[in-house]
Amino acid sequence: MRFTLEYVDSETRARAGRLETPHGVVETPMFMPVGTVGSVKAVSPRELRRDVGAQIILGNTYHLYLRPGLEVLRQAGGLHRFMGWDGPILTDSGGFQVFSLAALRKLSEEGVWFQSHLDGSRHLFTPENVIDYQRVIGADIMMVLDECPPGDASLEAARRAHELTLRWAERSKRRFEETAPLYGYEQALFAIVQGGVFPELRRESARALVAMDFPGYAIGGLSVGEPTELMYEMVEVVTEILPADRPRYLMGVGTPANLLENIARGVDLFDCVMPTRNGRNGTIFTTEGILNIRNRKWQTDFSPLDPGLDGYVSQTFTKAYVRHLFQAGEILGLQIATLQNLSFYLWLMREARRAILEGRYRSWMNEMLPRISRRL
Ligand code: GUN
Repeated sequence: MRFTLEYVDSETRARAGRLETPHGVVETPMFMPVGTVGSVKAVSPRELRRDVGAQIILGNTYHLYLRPGLEVLRQAGGLHRFMGWDGPILTDSGGFQVFSLAALRKLSEEGVWFQSHLDGSRHLFTPENVIDYQRVIGADIMMVLDECPPGDASLEAARRAHELTLRWAERSKRRFEETAPLYGYEQALFAIVQGGVFPELRRESARALVAMDFPGYAIGGLSVGEPTELMYEMVEVVTEILPADRPRYLMGVGTPANLLENIARGVDLFDCVMPTRNGRNGTIFTTEGILNIRNRKWQTDFSPLDPGLDGYVSQTFTKAYVRHLFQAGEILGLQIATLQNLSFYLWLMREARRAILEGRYRSWMNEMLPRISRRL
């Protein structure tokens, strides 16, 4: 995997780069649609590629391990083949999902015991076995097992989680180096910075992980209930320390405005369920603002869903029609809303990248923020 910086903004810390993976190039800054169980909900891989313009998607070790299970994925020849997506895939390690979804977690130095949210069966994730599992999944980029404390964690709790995450990162890296890819292409392993909302812990975490020399670094433990300004401050503290020549990935963030603010602070990669999940609830992101398509006010609005995007979905369907689909509980409504929202997120990343390359990121962002955050 190779990462090349094409341009670094002089007014902000925004960067434009190229991440070369075995399954293709990712132009950064980039948003990764979430395909937790091997499906970006309501969207086919062909639509992801052609209509949305996605360059990389996310999968999840926790979900894929539980269902369909690793034996199925191994026999399929990995997740790319299994799901019919031939672009890059990044998998989260499962640590975060164990903490948010599974029941009866028991955390120890060794790893984390948990009960499946599907059938209650008991499982152990260790830094080593989640590397093995991600080898089987065949992710282009895999993540270390980490502990993500809640947003209101005390200094002591955040310190314990960050120190455990460091020891787990060393074990992960060792296992990664002792094992080989299964499907004939190289995989990369990214580390995860923790440290809660405490700048000194964040610095310690970042410095220690940089010393271990990973090809990329994620910032975890944010957007977990802390105030937005604290999230921005933590990102700033961490990107100051991370090496300029490695990609930075902010996990689980966020709103369109969060993306632009964090790009300005030096982040290259994002993922979030917001465009897909909120889309299925009827929240639609457009170049003119955010609308709730269930609202009565769209009943006879026959303007395009998003006049500012030129894709098939944005131009063909009217607000009134999509509202009708939601009212009637039609599956097509979910598909249209998801495609629109992902298309918007990917458009926003392309525009951000263009603004960075043209040296006008700050003024572009200041102009864009009120427009995309407006409630219609
Ligand atoms: N997704 C969002 N936040 C996190 C985090 O802190 N760790 C992991 N592994 N995944 C995440």
